[in-house]
Order: sequence, then structure tokens, then C-alpha cells
Amino acid sequence: MTKRSFCVAIDGPAAAGKGTISKAVAAHFGFAHLDTGLLYRAVGAGVLAGGDAVTVAKTLDPAQFDQDSLRTPEVAQAASRVAVDPDVRSALLQFQRDFAEKAGCAVLDGRDIGTVVAPAADAKLFITASADVRAQRRFLELSGKGMDVTLEGVLADVKARDARDRSREAAPLVAAKDAVLIDTSELSIEQAIGQAIAAIEKIKGA
Ligand code: C5P
Repeated sequence: MTKRSFCVAIDGPAAAGKGTISKAVAAHFGFAHLDTGLLYRAVGAGVLAGGDAVTVAKTLDPAQFDQDSLRTPEVAQAASRVAVDPDVRSALLQFQRDFAEKAGCAVLDGRDIGTVVAPAADAKLFITASADVRAQRRFLELSGKGMDVTLEGVLADVKARDARDRSREAAPLVAAKDAVLIDTSELSIEQAIGQAIAAIEKIKGA
């Protein structure tokens, strides 16, 4: 990727707070933001609807995404299943790089941004938290939207996705060597956002 301005890569396991932190970081610095999980979720949803994963990946139109319907546990699992396919990943890779390229200054969040999509990113963060804390947060989020979920079910979902995301051969979930690690288990949202912004300010100012 040719560097024009400033690219922030934010990776981490399911429900660690990446989405909230990424949105806040993008708003703080005035950068564009791409939630790359939505791309995989859209492919997963397409497969659940009977489509072929690679065909769906090659013909995605993010402008048409219905974000609410993509944020269900079923679609999350389907996303992590299609995400093991290297052909799906390469079909989505260019879209992600083009987004960063066009935006100039961008925050991308996902699983492989700092390692594969934007290895030359100026700032890399790896956001994590214990599985129990992540499940609790996701449970509150989903049940708050009126979804019929249980804490045990959400914990099982988070653990299954983590295992699949970490063990796949193509672009597994792993922190880039030069990523700043932020464990949000004991942090409030404000504290986690504050740490992320401080880490990026430090890199920008260096
Ligand atoms: O981040 P989110 O939970 O929306 O991602 C859904 C799934 O998409 C993840 O569990 C993972 O399998 C996949 N994904 C990925 N690479 C990314 C973003 C998401 O493999 N960059």
C-alpha cells in the first residue's frame, strides 16, 4: 500500500471493544473508518442466503449493507466460517486496501489489518479482553437490541470464533509484532478510548 497520510490498524478478538474504539479514534483524528468485519459478515449472510462465498465476496456493495441484520450471532459465525477461505480473503483484500488508499487517513479494524491488509500502517493497536468480559459485553449489547440470547450462548459463540480465527491458516488472528497491546478487561469505554488515542498521538508525534 502506498502511504499517503496516516493509517491506523486496529485488530483483536471478537467483542474486545475494537468497533467502539475504532469509531472514537476515527472521530477524534477526523479519519475515515472501515469495519472490515462487516465485509466478512456480509459474505457470511450471503452464504446463509444460499450464495457462493467467493462470488458474494467479489460482488459486495457496502453501500447496500443492512448493518442491523449483519450483527446477529448467526451471521457472526457464518462470517468466521467463510473467513477461513483464502479466496474469500483475497477477494476482500483489495477493497480494504483501496479504502485506505482513497481515504488517505483511515482507521481499519478487523483481525489481520496490521499483519496482512496494511502491514505498513503507521499505528497498530491490538485490543483484547478476557473471554468472559467480552461475552458479557456482547450479551448486554445483543440483549439490549431485543435479541433472544443467553450469556452462555454468547460465551460459546465468542470462544468458537476466537478458536477458528486464531487457528486458520490464511491470515490468522495474531497481534502484529509492532502493535501496541491494550487489554480492556478492566477498563471503562472512556479509559480504553483514551489509551488508544494516547498511543496513536505518541506514534504521530514521534
Ligand atoms: O469483527 P467482527 O466480529 O464483525 O468479524 C466477524 C468475523 O469476520 C470474525 O470472527 C472473523 O472470522 C472475520 N474477520 C476476519 N478478518 C477481518 C475482519 C473480520 O477474518 N479483518
